[in-house]
Amino acid sequence: MIGFVIKLKVYTTDLLFLLTKHASYMGFFSTLLKRKEKPLNLNILDNFNCPPVTILYGTKTGNAQLIAQQAHKYYHQCGIESECHNMDKYDVGRLPSEHKLLIAVSTDGEGELPPNARKFFQLLQHDEMPMLNNLQYAICGLGDSSYDNFCGAGKMLDAQLQKLGAQTIINRVDCDLDFKKSALQWIQNTYDTIVGLKKSEETTVKPEVEMPDFVSTRLLRRRQLTKAQVEQPVFHIELDNTQHPIHYQAGDCIEIIPTNPARLVSQIIETLNLDKSQELISYNHTLEYSLLYQFEITKLTRPVIRRYMKINDSAELKKLNDNKDELRQFINQSDVLDLLREYPCSMDADEFVSILQPIHSRYYSIASSYKAQSSQIDLTVKTVRFQQKERQYEGAGSTFVNEGLDEGATINYRLVSNPSFHLPEDTDTPVIMIGVGTGIAPYRAFLQELNAQQIKKKAWLIWGDKHQSTDFLYEDEVIDYYKNDTLAFINTAFSRDQETKEYVQHRLTDYKERVMEWLDKGAVIYLCGHNQMGDQVKATLIQLYMSEKGMSEQQAKAHLRQHRDNNIIREDLY
Ligand SMILES: Cc1cc2nc3c(=O)[nH]c(=O)nc-3n(C[C@H](O)[C@H](O)[C@H](O)COP(=O)(O)OP(=O)(O)OC[C@H]3O[C@@H](n4cnc5c(N)ncnc54)[C@H](O)[C@@H]3O)c2cc1C
Ligand SMILES: Cc1cc2nc3c(=O)[nH]c(=O)nc-3n(C[C@H](O)[C@H](O)[C@H](O)COP(=O)(O)O)c2cc1C
Repeated sequence: MIGFVIKLKVYTTDLLFLLTKHASYMGFFSTLLKRKEKPLNLNILDNFNCPPVTILYGTKTGNAQLIAQQAHKYYHQCGIESECHNMDKYDVGRLPSEHKLLIAVSTDGEGELPPNARKFFQLLQHDEMPMLNNLQYAICGLGDSSYDNFCGAGKMLDAQLQKLGAQTIINRVDCDLDFKKSALQWIQNTYDTIVGLKKSEETTVKPEVEMPDFVSTRLLRRRQLTKAQVEQPVFHIELDNTQHPIHYQAGDCIEIIPTNPARLVSQIIETLNLDKSQELISYNHTLEYSLLYQFEITKLTRPVIRRYMKINDSAELKKLNDNKDELRQFINQSDVLDLLREYPCSMDADEFVSILQPIHSRYYSIASSYKAQSSQIDLTVKTVRFQQKERQYEGAGSTFVNEGLDEGATINYRLVSNPSFHLPEDTDTPVIMIGVGTGIAPYRAFLQELNAQQIKKKAWLIWGDKHQSTDFLYEDEVIDYYKNDTLAFINTAFSRDQETKEYVQHRLTDYKERVMEWLDKGAVIYLCGHNQMGDQVKATLIQLYMSEKGMSEQQAKAHLRQHRDNNIIREDLY
């Protein structure tokens, strides 16, 4: 370990920093082995002597944290010493002296690590990172199988730890959105393997994952923000926050479970020639009820197609599944009805629902500040509705919130904390808020908050949509914030208001001197809205670092990466 310490001193500043911190861990094992509290249930092997287990989480919205904390709780209940850390707060210099490491990590962006895991991963990849031959580890990856790069972050960490010579305790588990069962199994299996339990010696205590409850509230008001008839209108929604008040921060989101579009449910039942009122054997509900409330039908994923192939042995479907590009394209442009129509097969109702995934929640950024108006939670929701393959498609969550609920109706939701997208703690830090469309939602929350705190001229909004006349969301409010100096600057980009398309990234170039000046003053950049917009803005920032700071392309890319890793660039892209 000392060799590691000295080597680091010579080569790197990053790891030198780690080393300074590392000194305080030289007595690591002796301190850790001192039991802090009596375990709740020492139900296994009396003489078992297990080295402490370190559990880390990399998370954006809290799911991986929940799993890591439940694993920690379970180990403690079983009398095994463990520590649980946010990856960002964990000292990587400790790794060579760790024995057992458990990691729960979600995937963000397009197959990326979540913000709090990026520095950890960067250090693992560092040239001077020593081998971890004494380390045994297990990874629980969280993801969403509708993404191309399913559980990409877990896979990257796994590959890197293997490269460093670490050994697996058990194979990585890749959990989909309904992660609870697989994550519990992961906690149990890692524990059994570490402790050396056999099937016949099962523990009496079982791990649990306690998800925070959904709460009900009333939808108070809804008002259309987009003017005139547009195919995808955006609505301002107000939810009551007095019944079961939640204390949220600007930048947080809520999640809701949608109800599926009724027309799509009828079309599916008709296509399968089934009876909507038939009771399912496996679920205590009718087929119609289950399709409305329990299963995902507006989106298609690879696991659904794989399960369908077990029932439908069509050569065409197999051909599609064997062609990666065609399969990706089909998944991106199709829903469950398309699958049934284009690759027909007769099934009974129970067989059919057995191929589906449970319905999952949709996230919406909170568009209000608790500090400014604690009694309500505002949202800015765009209705997803579009024509394709001579059919109309509707998004489940957005049409449910915008069209499926009357004012006064009850809606169930849960707070999703989003710490990597909060305002800076230091109120003197300038903020550049860049977004398109509903990406304005968290910025409205930021502006309400800055206004309530009388913080002047620290915010700059760069925002765009298609047309100024129809799509300028919250136009009056934004202008008022400019007039009262909450906003130092507003720059809009309405892409279709002139012959050549103009986007928010063009405003960055137009005002490049100011961008650099604000960054030099320590500004934080926020990106919210479409993924593609985020990519374009990041590419433009690289160009600006090159042209304005004289960096090479490689340096500029590294600079951008550093800004993202250090939370100078904060993203909420979807
Ligand atoms: C952190 C976060 C914050 C968010 N905040 C907001 C917010 O403030 N406001 C907001 O409105 N949304 C927000 N979203 C997006 C929101 O969660 C939903 O994804 C969105 O409302 C669509 O969900 P849906 O259920 O209506 O559509 P779904 O039923 O999920 O999707 C329908 C399918 O249609 C596809 N699709 C959508 N549009 C088109 C198109 N034009 N052409 C072809 N295919 C298309 C989709 O890819 C999808 O496969 C946020 C997402 C995240 C992750
Ligand atoms: C904006 C966004 C991007 C995502 N990108 C991916 C992805 O590329 N691959 C994947 O498998 N899952 C992806 N997911 C799914 C998350 O990993 C999944 O929802 C996970 O449960 C989140 O866990 P967390 O709360 O710990 O961050 C994405 C989710 C969001 C909201």
